[in-house]
Amino acid sequence: MTTEQHSISVLGCGNIGLSIAHGLVNSGLYKSNQIILTKRNTESLEKSMGSKGFQVTADNNLAVKKSKVVIVCVTPAQLDSLLESIRSVINPKYHVVISVVSGASIDDISVKLGSSGVAIVRAMPNTAIQYCQSMTCLAVRGTHHVAGRAEIEERKDQALAISEKIFNVLGNCIVLKEEQIVPATALCACGIAFFFRAIRAASQGGIEIGFHAEDAIKIAAQTAKGAATLVLEGGYHPEYEIDKVTTPMGCTIAGLNQMEHNGFSSAMIKGIVTSAEKAASLYSKKQPAPSTTTHHHHAPQAHQQDSASTTTTSTTSTANNNTESKSNNKRRTRNQNKSTRNQQQQQTTESNNTQQEKPDSNNNDQSHEQQQEQAPEQHQPSTASSENNEQQPQQPQQQQQSHQNNNSRRGKSNNSRRSNTKKEQEDPNNPWKKQENNHQHPAPVYDVNSVDEALAKARSRNTHQQNGRGNRRGGSGDGGGGRRHNGNNSRGGGGEGGRRQPHQHQHQQQEAN
Ligand SMILES: NC(=O)c1ccc[n+]([C@@H]2O[C@H](COP(=O)([O-])OP(=O)(O)OC[C@H]3O[C@@H](n4cnc5c(N)ncnc54)[C@H](OP(=O)(O)O)[C@@H]3O)[C@@H](O)[C@H]2O)c1
Repeated sequence: MTTEQHSISVLGCGNIGLSIAHGLVNSGLYKSNQIILTKRNTESLEKSMGSKGFQVTADNNLAVKKSKVVIVCVTPAQLDSLLESIRSVINPKYHVVISVVSGASIDDISVKLGSSGVAIVRAMPNTAIQYCQSMTCLAVRGTHHVAGRAEIEERKDQALAISEKIFNVLGNCIVLKEEQIVPATALCACGIAFFFRAIRAASQGGIEIGFHAEDAIKIAAQTAKGAATLVLEGGYHPEYEIDKVTTPMGCTIAGLNQMEHNGFSSAMIKGIVTSAEKAASLYSKKQPAPSTTTHHHHAPQAHQQDSASTTTTSTTSTANNNTESKSNNKRRTRNQNKSTRNQQQQQTTESNNTQQEKPDSNNNDQSHEQQQEQAPEQHQPSTASSENNEQQPQQPQQQQQSHQNNNSRRGKSNNSRRSNTKKEQEDPNNPWKKQENNHQHPAPVYDVNSVDEALAKARSRNTHQQNGRGNRRGGSGDGGGGRRHNGNNSRGGGGEGGRRQPHQHQHQQQEAN
């Protein structure tokens, strides 16, 4: 792919837009001067990105005219006015529109662009795209897509191919049906925050057992990276890797079970389901948010250390690198570890819930009308569906699988099974191979209600068992997930080695549950 051919613009350079812009350059796919970035208020963007050679403008029309690939990165509440403002310059036969906007369907976007002929790709990346480590889910058609004219279908395929090339360089990408983009928002885009929280919780446990904050974060983050690498590169199920570090009566299984008793897996599953439900309604509701200022640029180091209050602001760490001294970070971290985390967490949650719903102050009806009048003839009358409601999230396979894993160590996702089968068959030491063959799991049917019920039962059981401690379960509520650690039992987590035979796994799982 030549970058000349696919000149690119990012419309709406906030958190994810900036991360994408950085990723495009860090990947070597584009030079900064080949990328056009837009924002209504460009002052900060000029300073942070203009100085690095990016083309910065508040003029979306200009950006679209100069690009083939247009990546739309505004919030759901800002989307309509942006699309209406560019519809007159979008050429369905030329442009590829990639939308990362949560909840807005391809039909929604087509309607606003005034043409069903525009090749629109939905993409759901996460902020690790900055370092070319994003998981990005792509969709160009839904399950019930009715094929249009051949040339339109061809355009869609080309748009998807271009998107795959870009997002594969910016990490890893998979193509899904459009209905799965909402669940993907929860698992992939929100998901990175869940793992940040897990890293933070681990580091807080680490501090409690004797590590300085910065060492604890480093150890926790690298350990998380190692775990992800083992799953991705090794191709094994996480539980298989867990079995390798859990010695009978050892400290790892003691720590793991303690976490499960406190609802670790349940909290993660519930959080993902809740995020997916929320994501489904983001565009259709388009709630205005309180007029709080969103801060986009924070020094990466500050984010790492700013554990309890990090998420009260937006979290892109792209523009200002390392502007705070290490000693300041250390001091802040110590203070935060002492502060009242419950309160901060609550603020965090509220802030996160509203950040993507900023009111769109620049919505200008008059200019919209003018642009509509100027729309070129090539725009065909819209044949796209006018339904603005995002379809409800399809039953997410991954979530179901997570739940299964909680109950059975033999569980393995269809996806992971698909990708791992070859590897596992090649490995005679893999004790799961036989079980996998014996247990043909039917395609999981996800049922939120039954998960809810199961979770409610488990929660009530745990609450009784723990004598009222259930409310603090999950590690995210009070920011002190590591506090109940028994120092002797929770330390380590690795290094015990030794594989157990399958029958021992079942034993262990009974204990875990
Ligand atoms: N953040 C993530 O990790 C992530 C991941 C995947 C998907 N997403 C989705 O991506 C979208 C953006 O999220 P975000 O977190 O990046 O939001 P954000 O930080 O608020 O960024 C939105 C940006 O759009 C700009 N903008 C608004 N209207 C504009 C217009 N008419 N023309 C040009 N720029 C305009 C805003 O700046 P001005 O006000 O100065 O114009 C702002 O910088 C959301 O739909 C979100 O769901 C986010």
